[in-house]
Amino acid sequence: MTTKAPKTTSSIVFQVFRGDDAAGREERFEVPAVEGMVVLDAIHYIQANYANDLACRWNCKAAKCGSCSAEINGRPRLMCKTRVDEFGKDEIHVWPMRAFPLIKDLVTDVSWNYQVNKEIPGFTPPANEPVPYRMLPEDTERVYEYRKCIECFLCQDVCHVLRNHDDKSMYYGPRYMVRIAALEMHPLDTERRTGLLHGKAGVGMCNITKCCQEVCPEHIKITDNAIIPLKERTTTDAYDPIAWMLRKVRPRREPAGITGAQTSELGGVRLPQRFAVKDVVRLKSAGRPFARVGGVRPDGKLEVWILKMRGTQQHWKGPSVVDTSEVTNNYGPLDDVGIGSKLFEQTLTDHAE
Ligand code: SF4
Ligand code: SF4
Ligand code: FES
Repeated sequence: MTTKAPKTTSSIVFQVFRGDDAAGREERFEVPAVEGMVVLDAIHYIQANYANDLACRWNCKAAKCGSCSAEINGRPRLMCKTRVDEFGKDEIHVWPMRAFPLIKDLVTDVSWNYQVNKEIPGFTPPANEPVPYRMLPEDTERVYEYRKCIECFLCQDVCHVLRNHDDKSMYYGPRYMVRIAALEMHPLDTERRTGLLHGKAGVGMCNITKCCQEVCPEHIKITDNAIIPLKERTTTDAYDPIAWMLRKVRPRREPAGITGAQTSELGGVRLPQRFAVKDVVRLKSAGRPFARVGGVRPDGKLEVWILKMRGTQQHWKGPSVVDTSEVTNNYGPLDDVGIGSKLFEQTLTDHAE
């Protein structure tokens, strides 16, 4: 079918996909050329003048909402960011993203992405981290890049692992490697997601073709700065025997809220636990002393050994029982903090575990 443009200036020919998941074909439209026009303008012109029922998704027309993703002359792009004059006199073919089920015309069902998103453990700061969070600017710089993502899913569309096999069970896709990188490299995050990456998220499926990186409208270096570092971390955690041994002797700091391994029992109910034996904490009591967690009691209270200073000498006095509300900060394992660790070994060995 051909629809002619009103007789104004020169016109551009658009071949736009029309149809649903049962059947579809391209329809030809002529649209008057206007200086500075983008593909989304042409789609709006077609809707207004020729095909009121043409389905397309858009919101901002400013390349920020990530809604207007489509395939323009076979390349995944934002319609609102693609100028028509870059194609010269050539016809412009506009198709929906082909990695996702088609709903109608240019609109696809991207809900699978949101399901994947829910499977990724969210930001998990250390126990008792004071709010508002304080971080050094140089520690936060790395995650800025990942946070530019507008969830347009163009990278998901171009990734051959998701696109060519019609089976999304093997790999979360580049968008979610970016999200996991943002969490893993956050200076205050304590969660370890390499097990997920090695398993269901499937980082090993990526063969670093960099196609995702080339189509990202936010110019995120998806492969270089997210996927490759995540592959390195995952390989270290999954296969490096020295890293495995270090994890055994120096477990990571426990996150705030519920933790799996360090819960205590009360009548068979596993209580949320924010403290681990050997954590160094600061108490509210006079002088705000440091203390060492020697045990977590079934009622949730802590047995602590308080750090006392006599001149240049220090020793740990205890045990005392305190409520968790007495703790103003948890600095994590003694091995990491290093406060009086030698003396601790001398005096608390029998009580610590
Ligand atoms: S680099 Fe990896 S994630 Fe990106 S398109 Fe290629 S296979 Fe997919
Ligand atoms: S990483 Fe880039 S291409 Fe992928 S969803 Fe985010 S903004 Fe879009
Ligand atoms: S309309 Fe928002 S990104 Fe194109």
